[in-house]
Amino acid sequence: MKTLIVGSGVVGEATGTVLCKNGNSVVFYDVDRKRLEILKGKGLHVADSIDEAVVDSTVIFICVPTPTVNSSIDLSYVEEATVNIGKALSHTDSYKVVVVRSTVVPTTTRCRVVPLLQKHSGLVPGSDFGVCMNPEFLRDNSALEDSLNPSRIVIGELDKRSGDLLEQMYLSFKAPIIRMDLDTAEMVKYASNLFLATKISFFNEIQMICAKLGLDANVVGKAVSLDPRIGEYGVYGGRPFEGKCLPKDLIAFRGFVRALNVNPKLLDAVSSVNAEMSGHVSKKSKARNARTNLNKVQNTSRV
Ligand SMILES: NC(=O)c1ccc[n+]([C@@H]2O[C@H](COP(=O)([O-])OP(=O)(O)OC[C@H]3O[C@@H](n4cnc5c(N)ncnc54)[C@H](O)[C@@H]3O)[C@@H](O)[C@H]2O)c1
Repeated sequence: MKTLIVGSGVVGEATGTVLCKNGNSVVFYDVDRKRLEILKGKGLHVADSIDEAVVDSTVIFICVPTPTVNSSIDLSYVEEATVNIGKALSHTDSYKVVVVRSTVVPTTTRCRVVPLLQKHSGLVPGSDFGVCMNPEFLRDNSALEDSLNPSRIVIGELDKRSGDLLEQMYLSFKAPIIRMDLDTAEMVKYASNLFLATKISFFNEIQMICAKLGLDANVVGKAVSLDPRIGEYGVYGGRPFEGKCLPKDLIAFRGFVRALNVNPKLLDAVSSVNAEMSGHVSKKSKARNARTNLNKVQNTSRV
């Protein structure tokens, strides 16, 4: 299948590389020329112009950033990419599927991406082009490995034709493929990340209580993790959740549900435990740095 990746960072590169390994012809596009040079250096095909690349492709993945700004998701990159894809779609009459791979809050694909594609292409969604939402679950530090071995493939679809076409690309994967509507696929991604954040904060709270009692939180975590319903991820405590996704997605989702007049009490607590844990860790590292500096001074004075 001729595939275009729009936004070729961590997720775009991993998605495209894996689809390429599975026999698809993949072209990468990015607004950042340096990024494209790096991919070219790795022997991957890159496009200079999004217009031609869209016209030449059957499936187009949107993998652009969705940062959190002022406690809510910033969709400007997704919108810009969508407008450009929509304009390019107007130059073609072959059926194509646009796939949102970026993490976006529920209703984004249906209520923002689909109307923008329709407006800028002048085409009819569902009959002239298809749309899917296909969240990525990779971890930043093992992106390619995770993309090669996904635990599940979630396909949110505008209609059956869109989902059927995207499913074709994943048939060689061993992972279960689960199909659903667009909004549900977006929710699956947040539910997964929010649960992981909650689990980490839960065990951080257990760790803080263990510290008060003089107990070894690692022994507690290990023994608890052997329950197959619980598992090992995040059970040892002692570190806040960090990285590119969990903190930003937790903040954006809390902002999103507040706007729906939902009070996310548990998620607020998850956030506050994480802030407390970050405070402990930075106090400890400040103390460690102070000790290192003292050692340096002592070592220097000995020299
Ligand atoms: N990194 C992760 O661990 C991870 C995991 C799962 C999901 N996600 C989600 O995937 C999305 C992408 O994340 P990432 O980590 O790959 O981001 P990234 O910053 O590594 O890459 C995004 C790329 O998109 C490019 N870009 C921005 N606007 C563009 C446009 N209009 N057209 C073309 N290219 C454009 C940027 O130059 C950049 O190279 C986000 O929504 C993120 O939340 C990330």
